[in-house]
Amino acid sequence: MHISVVGLGKLGAPLAAVFASKGFRVVGTDASPAVVASVNAGLAPVDEPGLQALIDVSQGRLAATNDTPAAVAQTDATFIVVPTPSDSSGKFSNEHVIAALEAVGQGIRGKTSYHLVIVTSTVMPGSTDGELRDALERASRRIVGESVGLCYSPEFVALGSVVRDMLRPEVLLIGESDPRAGELLQGIYARSCDSQPVVRRMNCVNAELAKIAVNTFVTTKISYANMLSDLCGRIRGADVDVVTQAIGSDSRIGGKYLRGATGYGGPCFPRDNVAFAALARELGARADLAEATDAINRYQVDRVVDAVVLRQSPPGAIGVLGLSYKPHTAVVEQSHGMVLVERLVNRGYDVLAYDPQAMAAARNVSRVQFETMPSAESCVRSASLVVIMTPWPQFADIAITAFSRTGKRLTVIDCWSIATTPMEAVADIVYLGRGAVGTTPLTA
Ligand SMILES: NC(=O)c1ccc[n+]([C@@H]2O[C@H](COP(=O)([O-])OP(=O)(O)OC[C@H]3O[C@@H](n4cnc5c(N)ncnc54)[C@H](O)[C@@H]3O)[C@@H](O)[C@H]2O)c1
Repeated sequence: MHISVVGLGKLGAPLAAVFASKGFRVVGTDASPAVVASVNAGLAPVDEPGLQALIDVSQGRLAATNDTPAAVAQTDATFIVVPTPSDSSGKFSNEHVIAALEAVGQGIRGKTSYHLVIVTSTVMPGSTDGELRDALERASRRIVGESVGLCYSPEFVALGSVVRDMLRPEVLLIGESDPRAGELLQGIYARSCDSQPVVRRMNCVNAELAKIAVNTFVTTKISYANMLSDLCGRIRGADVDVVTQAIGSDSRIGGKYLRGATGYGGPCFPRDNVAFAALARELGARADLAEATDAINRYQVDRVVDAVVLRQSPPGAIGVLGLSYKPHTAVVEQSHGMVLVERLVNRGYDVLAYDPQAMAAARNVSRVQFETMPSAESCVRSASLVVIMTPWPQFADIAITAFSRTGKRLTVIDCWSIATTPMEAVADIVYLGRGAVGTTPLTA
């Protein structure tokens, strides 16, 4: 079984490397010459833990090209992992997937044997068995279900653990045009997974719905915890962490993604509720929960801004710790740390910021001027108020002397409850999800 992977980005490169590491001969294709050159030089084209190690053990079985038809022609199955950006209505655009399918179909045309096409990119429900199937049939001049199979099979992975998540999935979702296509794909996964995942096979539209439903459900849990946090912060003696730990112990609820903190960000989560709601509107259905989840998420930065404004007037020197949307990644897309920096600068504050990995990315995309600090310690030392926006573990280890001030104590707004007892001894730590103890309740 020879595999081609179209699109060697954050998801496609790890997917190609996982298959190659498991003994498949893999040809990756990408529109970017730099990405192709990197893979052919044996270097990971994206920064993802474990990816380089997989490429290292795959030597001789992993190559790349920018000629998609040629890559498809020499393989038996093709995974399409190109971007599906949100359009102005909030839905995911199939533009790049269709362009990829045109090239894939061209490659299939030159073959005589059966070919399987798997769409891995996140697409709107109805796409695969609709315009994607049409594009493939047109370009390949074959009928789906006869000599060409079409599957929709998204990955449930998180940036920073993509390789591990691909090797050890809990569930495999296979949307299939016909049993032969699904069987073949299940066989590929059986060889590439180290875990024994639950396999769910279904038609393509149910798989597309299941993918978007997982993300909208998980984000609903996050927004629920944040809604609870807002309430707890206004009730004397309340602590969101105590409450979420208690309710998370109930197996009907579960503790994962149930933490009052900052809102969710990154390239996937924020756009899924928006797309879900856009689809519902188009079909005349209601998606109140998806809309509320998104609105609650956007409100989380307001809570932090209000907490800063209540305690410090501009220009101040607000130290923001954490710009990536989560720890262990340099990705700043839709990160609440970045939104906070922008909102504070626009209100006239001087902002100093530090992130262990995302400083370069933050500088590249920021629309406002802020000072980038060389270390977490220097950021805390120079600030008149500090906000912890991303729970990088090293933020709990900042030298305590950096928090000490003569005269007025430093205020630290700790969105993730990572402050330590020694920090509490020298600074005023504000936990947004905890109501004041024995005094007037907080108003922000
Ligand atoms: N990154 C994630 O964690 C993640 C998780 C789940 C789903 N997804 C979905 O996977 C898809 C890909 O996401 P990503 O994060 O890997 O994107 P990415 O932007 O990191 O990578 C996409 C790659 O595709 C290449 N490309 C674009 N058009 C092409 C074409 N016609 N032919 C060949 N190459 C082409 C680009 O040059 C780029 O290298 C999206 O639909 C995304 O929603 C991503």
